[in-house]
Parts: sequence; structure tokens; C-alpha cells
Amino acid sequence: MLANQQSLFNIPEEITYLNCAYMSPMMTKVEEVGIEALKRKANPSSITANDFFADTEKLRTEFAALINSPEPNRCVIIPSVSYGMGNVMRNVSLEEGDNVVVIGEQFPSNYYPWHRLCAERKARLKVISADSSKSGRGKKWNEKIHDAIDNKTKLISLGHVHWADGTLFDLMEIRKRTNDVGALMVIDGTQSIGALPFDLQEFQPDALICAGYKWLMGPYSIGMAYYGPYFDEGVPIEENWINRLNSEDFAGLVSYEDQYQPGALRYEVGEHSNFNLVPMLLKAIEQINAWSPAEIQNYCADITKNELNALEQKGFSIESPEWRGSHLFGIRLPENVEISQLKSKLAEEQINVSVRGDAVRVAPHLYNSRQDMQKLTDVLLHLK
Ligand SMILES: Cc1ncc(COP(=O)(O)O)c(C=O)c1O
Repeated sequence: MLANQQSLFNIPEEITYLNCAYMSPMMTKVEEVGIEALKRKANPSSITANDFFADTEKLRTEFAALINSPEPNRCVIIPSVSYGMGNVMRNVSLEEGDNVVVIGEQFPSNYYPWHRLCAERKARLKVISADSSKSGRGKKWNEKIHDAIDNKTKLISLGHVHWADGTLFDLMEIRKRTNDVGALMVIDGTQSIGALPFDLQEFQPDALICAGYKWLMGPYSIGMAYYGPYFDEGVPIEENWINRLNSEDFAGLVSYEDQYQPGALRYEVGEHSNFNLVPMLLKAIEQINAWSPAEIQNYCADITKNELNALEQKGFSIESPEWRGSHLFGIRLPENVEISQLKSKLAEEQINVSVRGDAVRVAPHLYNSRQDMQKLTDVLLHLK
């Protein structure tokens, strides 16, 4: 198993940071590469034509390796999930009477696009919520999703895990069902890619969209997307010069070109050469590939299992490991617990997690230790 990696980060000692689902802390080497990159523009002559293309190519290749895609030019740089979904939205064929399936309480950037599209096309938006039962919740939720996909479904868009409580969605089963009815499967990988293994060739999503500042451990405002063959002849949401064929030839830019760069590169955001953010995200994903998401899962499972068992015995409910991430999970509180008391105790102890409704969202990573989980458990077990 991997060793604790805290020394690669710069998290203040007094803070117990169990909230990578909010935002990852930045590795020192990512910070350094960012500072160097920022300084380069003091002397623009140091930025060459090749620099518009070289690091982006490396970043696509590194991300493609992470998701096991054999085609790096289907992987593109995006600024946000909403942007990546915008490209999908623009190219979905959806008519009156069709439907789109989403998950209950899905993240807004993966809800509003479908809400709007369904309203515009007079299609139905099916929102599939978890049922209220405490036991077998993840399994039952997956069954409901499977049953919601029918002959009128044109698209389902969901995460690999639910962003708020880590419930795991069975993408293999969903892919089978969508293939049966001819629907697209779009994945928001923001809360999983980087920490939970994802094999593109196994799941075969039509699109995969990820923000980069959580489990990809990059800076804010840069993420990655994959667009499959369905989108090959599609129309991007913007028309940037660099996405056209031969954009490498700076002297010929106004010999306007009808063709796009190959693969899915037409969907890449304008100014994606982003000389500051690209090297940072690249450095971060190189490290994640060196660790491997499977090892990150193992580590997180190992440092949390004893504490979660102890909490369950005291009336807290936690999804079974089979139906949740080890890097992201919810701890539902017993009924008598005062949330305000929990919040103030967490603040006092400088423990950073997310509290939502009657659940605590915990999101550990390799910089956390068993002691961090013990500290959180101590607070939870001593609530009145
Ligand atoms: C599942 C999920 N998707 C997307 C985002 C961010 O969306 P955007 O990049 O559009 O701001 C978040 C942020 O918390 C998220 O949890």
C-alpha cells in the first residue's frame, strides 16, 4: 500500500483537511510550476509558437492514460463542467416526447443544461432520487435508475459517484441499458476521476466531463473532457482559431480553414494553451498516474475502515463499501444529534468536512492519516 504523502503538500499542521471533494490542496511541486509559469510572461519572447501546443498535448496524453483512453485527441481542455456539458447539450438530438435521465440532487452544472434542453424541446426530464430506506440505499437507487431508462430515453447524465454522499453508480449496468435503448451516457467525473479507477474502454461513455481542482488536484478554472465518436461531426459551442486544422502555421491563420483539428479537438476551450494552468494540471495528473487511482482507493479504505465500523455501532449510518467510494462518503447522524453543535465542534477542532442536512461528507486523500479519521470520529461520538 502507498505511504502517507502529506510531505508533498503544504497543509497547515493544525488543520485536519478531509474535504478533497470541496477542493484539493495543492502539491508543492504544482504550486512551484505555477509560479514559474506565471513569471514567464514578464518576457513574452520566451513564449514560443510551440508553447501553444506542447504542454496541451502532454496534458491530453496524461489524462488519456489516467482514464485508459487510446485516443488522446478525444481528450480536451475545458474551463468548467458547465462548459463541457454545453458542448454535449449543443449536439444531442432530442425531440418532443423523448426524455433525459438525471440523478436526484445532482450537481447544478449537470442539471441546468438538461433542464433547459428538455424545456426547449418539450422533452421530459426524469429526476431519479434515492428512496428513503436506510439499508440497501445504494443498490435500490441503482435499480431505480436502471428502470427509469426506457425507449424514449435519449441521454442519461450522472456522476460515477454522487457528489454529496459518494453513492456509487454502476456504470457498466447503465451502459448496457443505454445501449439497449440507443441512449447516450454522459459522465460527470469531477468527484471520482483521479481517485476512483475509471476505464474508458470498459465503460465506453459518450462523454466524460471533469473539473480539475478536486481529485485531479489541479488549479481552479481548468478541467478535462472526453468526447466519443457520437460527437465527431458535431458543432462546438465556440469557434476558436486554434481548433482549426493547421493552426500551428501562424503565418497562415487568415487562410480560413473549414476543417477542425482531428478527434474531439473542436470542443476545446479558446485560449486553452493557458500557459499558467496547463503545466500545473499536467504536473498534478502525472503524480496521480504515478500513484494510481486504485492505490488511492485502497489507502482511503484502509485509513477509514475501523473508524467507520465504530461509528456504525453507535447508530451512525454509512453506505456499505460496495455502493460508495472510499474517497468520498456520507456519514448520516443519529436522529437526536444537534447539527449546530456538530458545526461548532468541527470549527473548534479545525476539522474541515462538509455538513449537509443530516449528513457529514468526508473526502480523504493520501495526505490524510488514520489519526485524522480518529479526530473526526471523536467529535462525532461525543455529540449530545
Ligand atoms: C459533481 C460536480 N460537478 C461539477 C462541479 C463544478 O462545476 P463547474 O466546473 O461547472 O463549476 C462540482 C463542484 O463541486 C461537482 O461536485
